[in-house]
Amino acid sequence: MTKQPLQHLAIIMDGNGRWAKQKGLNRTKGHEKGAEVIRDITTYCSTHPTIESVTFYAFSTENWKRPKMEVEFLMRLLDRYLQHELATYQAHDIRFKAIGNIEAFSQKLQDRIQHVEEATKENRSLTQILALNYGGRAEITAAVNQLIAKGKRDITEADISSALQTPYRDVDLLIRTSGEERISNYLLWQISYAEFYFSQTLWPDFTTTELDEILDDFQHRNRRFGGINE
Ligand code: IPE
Ligand code: IPE
Ligand code: MG
Repeated sequence: MTKQPLQHLAIIMDGNGRWAKQKGLNRTKGHEKGAEVIRDITTYCSTHPTIESVTFYAFSTENWKRPKMEVEFLMRLLDRYLQHELATYQAHDIRFKAIGNIEAFSQKLQDRIQHVEEATKENRSLTQILALNYGGRAEITAAVNQLIAKGKRDITEADISSALQTPYRDVDLLIRTSGEERISNYLLWQISYAEFYFSQTLWPDFTTTELDEILDDFQHRNRRFGGINE
C-alpha cells in the first residue's frame, strides 16, 4: 500500500450553534469559541511534517440565509479574528489566504483580508485558507467564465484546476464535525478523491488530540485512486 502524504486538509467546522444551545447560550458564543479552535488547529497543522495547507469553511454562499444579526456578528468576528491573528501567523510562519467572493463584504473587511494576505505572503510553514462567502459551484462557474473570457476553447480538467482559487487543489482529507454527513457545497472540484471523516464532536469542542486520532486513522486508509493495490 503506497502511503499518500497528507498535504491538503479541509475542514467543515460545524456545530457552533448547537454547542451554544446545549449550554443555554446565544449562538454567537459558539462562534466565538469556534474561532479559538481554528487558532489551535492551525497552529498544530503548522508543525505537522506533511500538511501544507488547511482550508476551513467559515462562511458559505448559503449562510446569507441566516438572521441578519448572526451574519453581522460573523463578519465582525472575522474582522476581529484576523486583526488578532496576524501576530500568530507571523510567530508560526503561517501564510493566510481567503477564497470565496469577498467583494460582497464591507470595504473595511475586504481591506483587512487583503492586508493580512499581503503581510503573510512570504510565510512558509503552512497556508491557512479561509473559505469566505464560498461555494463550490460558484468557484467552478467563475473558473469556467474566466477561461472563456481569456478566449480558451476545448477546456481541459487541468485548465479548470488552474483557474480555481485554491493554491493546493486536491484535498487529501476532509473532516466535518457535528455528526452531519454532507458536503454543503464545499470544495466540490477538489474533493474528487478525498478521504472523508465525520466526527460527532461539535466544532467548539474539537481538539488537537482528536485531530491526531483522525490523522492516524487517515494513515490506515487504502487510497487506490481507481487502481489496484498489490
Ligand atoms: C458552523 O456552525 C459555523 C458556520 C456555519 C458559520 P453552525 O452555526 O452551522 O452551527 P449549527 O450547525 O447551527 O449547530
Ligand atoms: C456549512 O455549514 C458551512 C460552514 C461550515 C461555513 P452549515 O451549517 O451552514 O451547513 P448545512 O446548512 O448544515 O448544510
Ligand atoms: Mg451548521
